[in-house]
Amino acid sequence: MGNHQGVVIARTSAGADAPLPTLPTARTNLHAVENLRLGLVGCGAIAEWHAAALKHSQRTVVTACVDVSPERANKLAALTGGQACGSIAEAVEIGVDALAILVPHHLHESLVTEALEAGVHVALEKPMAPTVDACERILATAAKHNDRVFMLTENAQYWPEILIARDLVNNGAIGDLVTARSWHNFGITKEFYPTDQAWRFQQSAAGGGVALDTGSHWMRPLRMVLGEIDEIVAVTGRLWPQMEGESMVRSLCKFASGVVASFDVILATGAVGLQPHFQFTGSTGEIVISALGEVRLFDGKDWQGTVVGHGNYMDSYKGVWTDFEAAVLDGKPLEADARYSLGEVRAANAIVRSAATNTWQKVW
Ligand SMILES: NC(=O)c1ccc[n+]([C@@H]2O[C@H](COP(=O)([O-])OP(=O)(O)OC[C@H]3O[C@@H](n4cnc5c(N)ncnc54)[C@H](O)[C@@H]3O)[C@@H](O)[C@H]2O)c1
Repeated sequence: MGNHQGVVIARTSAGADAPLPTLPTARTNLHAVENLRLGLVGCGAIAEWHAAALKHSQRTVVTACVDVSPERANKLAALTGGQACGSIAEAVEIGVDALAILVPHHLHESLVTEALEAGVHVALEKPMAPTVDACERILATAAKHNDRVFMLTENAQYWPEILIARDLVNNGAIGDLVTARSWHNFGITKEFYPTDQAWRFQQSAAGGGVALDTGSHWMRPLRMVLGEIDEIVAVTGRLWPQMEGESMVRSLCKFASGVVASFDVILATGAVGLQPHFQFTGSTGEIVISALGEVRLFDGKDWQGTVVGHGNYMDSYKGVWTDFEAAVLDGKPLEADARYSLGEVRAANAIVRSAATNTWQKVW
């Protein structure tokens, strides 16, 4: 996949590269075209993960890589075959049908607004914005441009193990849901926390701690299986002095159904063990999703349970692009409306309020 001397190269289903004529900058009838020209805005850590997922796409061609750091833009351009540039305006000049906004949280609102006003489809990384007010402003802008797709990129929506568990629960494999557990204990990596001054450590850029940031990927699956959260009680901790937001969350979430689940996220200071990521407990059995992607059903047939599936977190990023392509090119509704992601932002904000006040806090 790449752009070589005015000819867009797209992979065919046979895996071979086939030349296509260069497409004009502005296209209106996208449903009639085969390939989506995508610009990546922000060429940092997650852009590389998306670029890896996009290599499997038959329908998307990365045409532009935008970053304020030319070095990062050039690196991603070399990886994707897109053209490096420094602004959304330049990306539009190069020719894009859609932009993926992959920048620190405090820049989401301004860049997503610029992209929507440029008339392209937009995929915005989570969280939509740190505050509900900012999210509502973004949704209002998206509504003004409702002939364009606006997706909030929460890859957990496509996490294979979660989809298996959700189907099992919906099919009654463990009876009625009694409780659940979501656990994410992870370490600092240079990729996401490159220095002590990294934006994730700063409240002004991140808008919160692990509840708002990484926590969303462990909160979305709970909501997908258990429904909407009514209220939360939480205790938080700051394990990393350079991080202004919380780096540890221990919490209980009471769902509208009355079911209570625990939600724990810890940016650990040391090595971490392999606890299950999720446990769904029902009236007749239990589903356990291991940290290695195994889905095991305990339904009384075997005390060791039965392995009913295996997944890979990284495959969730492929699901993002399959869904976005289908929405833009085929007019299909997204798996989750962008507004649905406010549930994670509201839950994260409720966690912070609860920890500050030692009280249960309403999410909605
Ligand atoms: N879905 C996931 O699993 C996941 C994982 C990590 C990050 N994220 C999200 O992705 C977003 C980016 O996180 P990251 O870890 O990649 O950050 P990062 O710091 O690695 O990359 C951000 C990039 O944006 C660039 N940038 C800053 N201002 C810009 C501007 N005005 N125009 C263009 N580029 C600009 C920076 O130079 C940097 O290269 C955040 O919203 C984060 O929450 C999602």
